[in-house]
Formats: sequence, structure tokens, C-alpha cells
Amino acid sequence: MRKLWGGRFESQTDALIEKLNNSLVFDSRLWRQDIAGSVAHATMLGDCGIIAKDEAMQIVAGLQSLRDDLEAETETLPPDAEDVHTAVEGLLRERIGAVAGKLHTARSRNDQVATDTRLYLREQCDEISQSLHNFQTMLTELAEREMETILPGYTHLQHAQPILLSHHLLAYFWMIERDRERLTDLRRRVNRLPLGAGAMAGTGFPIDRQRVAEALGFESVLPNSLDAVSDRDYLIEFLSFASITMMHFSRLAEEIILWNSQEYRFVVLDDRVTTGSSIMPQKKNPDVAELARGKTGRVFGNLMAMLTVMKGLPLAYNKDMQEDKEPLFDTIDTLLLVIPAMELTLSTAVFGRDRMKKATYGDFSTATDLADFLVKQGLPFREAHDVVGTVVRYCVERNLALEDLKGEVFGTLHPLLIGKEKLLSTLLQVQSSIESRNSEGGTASVSVRLQLEKAKAMLL
Ligand code: ARG
Repeated sequence: MRKLWGGRFESQTDALIEKLNNSLVFDSRLWRQDIAGSVAHATMLGDCGIIAKDEAMQIVAGLQSLRDDLEAETETLPPDAEDVHTAVEGLLRERIGAVAGKLHTARSRNDQVATDTRLYLREQCDEISQSLHNFQTMLTELAEREMETILPGYTHLQHAQPILLSHHLLAYFWMIERDRERLTDLRRRVNRLPLGAGAMAGTGFPIDRQRVAEALGFESVLPNSLDAVSDRDYLIEFLSFASITMMHFSRLAEEIILWNSQEYRFVVLDDRVTTGSSIMPQKKNPDVAELARGKTGRVFGNLMAMLTVMKGLPLAYNKDMQEDKEPLFDTIDTLLLVIPAMELTLSTAVFGRDRMKKATYGDFSTATDLADFLVKQGLPFREAHDVVGTVVRYCVERNLALEDLKGEVFGTLHPLLIGKEKLLSTLLQVQSSIESRNSEGGTASVSVRLQLEKAKAMLL
């Protein structure tokens, strides 16, 4: 395919260098945005009298027919083109002849590629936001269903305090809610128009950038032509958002993997989301969760790659920046694969309600409740902590569970416990421990219900 810059050159580019320079292999997916940008640009050129109206109309009609044919796959991008912009312009020339050459008036591939990428990313932000929204909806449904399920809550991966499974699941809801918030926020900065910056210094043609911005749905026009063609911060912001989001999914994945193990058996995963082993017939592996955790690495890597590409670049455009696309596309693809896969994994999972409840038995996870009781009797918390420590030791030495302590034993452990036997034996039950934590954001079912209502309201 004919180059866009052949005139100055006497000999062909070396084949090896062609390969190095080529971006069509990965930027071909921008063809829709490239055409949309060109349609808006050509229309503006015609409206501003920079090219003749009928020329603009020919270009626009040519681009539209090209778009339809590419969509219908009756046309394909020429594989030997240098990049997507060259490919689209070449095909347009085949259709409408030399007038196609007027499209690039007052434009450079530098502002063109930035425009295409922003258009594409803007669309993908909406896709990803929807995918996260679906995931959150699933979480609220699970939380509703598991409202009665008791789970040992952990700190340091040691049993800490009993909680409701719904409370645990909703923790992820809020993490993802903030991810979605970050995405909405960064989308505003993606949605600004670079086109009209030309190669880097603007143009002498009487263009109307506002008009192009409006046609393409951009919120505003980037005010500095150098900045417009040379920064990729909007993309780095997206990769940062993606890294944080993947970190959240990776933590959830880790829990699913642990909970699915023989030691925990807190969850049984559906056949649709597990795979077997080629040698061990008994195996059912939590591959989805493992891949979600594993792919987090590449997304972090993509963020680091882009930060590194950009850090030493002098203004304005440098070819280094062609390296922005693969990390971006890879990240988008990864998110759009991992999020629904994790959704399917969780929505089809069966939680081991009995196992979870049983796991709280004898784990001393209501020890804080006993301490709080003593505090309510007037003992300073530090002293109460000590007393409960001796109670726990008493139980450990006799192989007893805290919730099994009965009768006079309490009185022998501390004078403040004398005569409170009945109260205490209920208080030390897991269920009452949970229900007592009714502070805002706590694990008591009244609090979790309120939380769930708030969560659902965020989804409207
Ligand atoms: N393929 C290039 C990129 O992705 C397009 C811009 C090329 N500009 C240039 N002056 N060679 O960055």
C-alpha cells in the first residue's frame, strides 16, 4: 500500500524496519473511530470553506460506504498498510479517487491518532462501567440470598469476629463502586478533543474545532496543541483505574480459591467455571479465580509500561507513543473478560453455609463480646481484655468452647460475672455476637439490611 509520506524518499523502507514501524497489526481495531473522526473533520472542512462543499460530501459519502462495507466484512483493511489511518485513507482513495487526498488538510496523524484513541477509550469506559454494574447487581442479589449465612470474619487470616456472609460480599460492592466512580471521573478527561492540533503547532487553515468536538460528542477542546498531541495521561489514568480494579478482583479471587479448598470448603464452584486435571481425576480447579488473580499482573505491567514509555519524552509527539495501544487494548480486553467470568463464578457458586457456621464453633471469636460485657459492667477495657484472656486460657486448657461455658464457672472466673450465667451463655453465641454489632456499617442484620438498601440505590 502507498505510503502517506513517500515523496521525500528515494528508496523503499527496509522490510525489517517496516515490521518494526507497523502498527496496523494492533491499531486496526480503531477503524470505526478513525472513520468517525474523518467524517467530522471532512464535514467541518466543507462547512468552513477550506475544501469545496461537494468535495466534502464526496469524502463523507465515501467514508460512510467504506464503514458499511467494513462492518459487513465485504471490505477488509489492506494488511500491508503502515497503520489504520493509512489503511482507511488508502481504501477511500480506491473508492473516490484523488479527492480523498483532501481529507488530510489541516490534520496530522498525530492529532488523528489521539482522537481515535480517545473515542475508542470513551466507548470502552462505558462498556466496562456496565460490566462492573452487572457484577455489583449480582453481589446485591447474593447478599440478599445469604442474609442469614454466618461466616468467620478474619484478620491476619485468623478467626477474628463472626460476621454475615452478606456483609463480607458487600465489602466488594463498595470497592467496585469506588472503581466505577474513578472510571466515570477519568472519562471526563478522556472526552476532550485533540483534533485540530495538527502535527503539534496548530494550523493556518480557518478550522472550527468546537464544531468537530460537538459532532464527535467531546465535552471540550484541548486548549494547547502540543499538549493535545503529546500527552497520554488520560490513558495512564485509565490503566491506574484498571490496576486498582484488578487488585480488588484479585483479592476476591484469592478468597474464592481459599474457600474452595478442601481445608475450607466454604464454597463449591459450578462445573461451568472449573476445569479438571489431566492426571488427577478427582480435581476440580478454580481456574477462573486463578486467572483473574494471574492476569492482574499483566494489567499492573501495562500501567508500568506506559508510565515508563512516557517519562522521558520531550514534547511533542514521538513515535514511542505508538506503544500506547497494546497495553491499552490488552487491559480493556482483560477487564471485559475477567469481570463477567468472575460474575458467572460467583453467581453459580454454592456457599457451604453449614461449614461456615461450624467453622465459628470453638474459635473464641466471641471473646470480644465477653470483654465488651465486662466493660458495660464498669470494668476498663484493658482490664476486661486481661480477664477474657484468662477465660480463653481456661477453656483452651480444658478443651472447651467459649460458647459452651455454663453455670457457676463464670462466677469463678470473675466476680462481675457472678449471677449473669444466663445472659452470658446467650451473649457468647455467634448469632447474638453478630446481632449486637448494629452500628452503622456493622455486621448486625439490621445494619447489613440498611447497607444493602444503600448499595441498591447506587445502582439506579
Ligand atoms: N501509528 C502512529 C501512532 O500510533 C500514528 C501517528 C504517526 N505519526 C507520525 N508522525 N508518524 O502513534
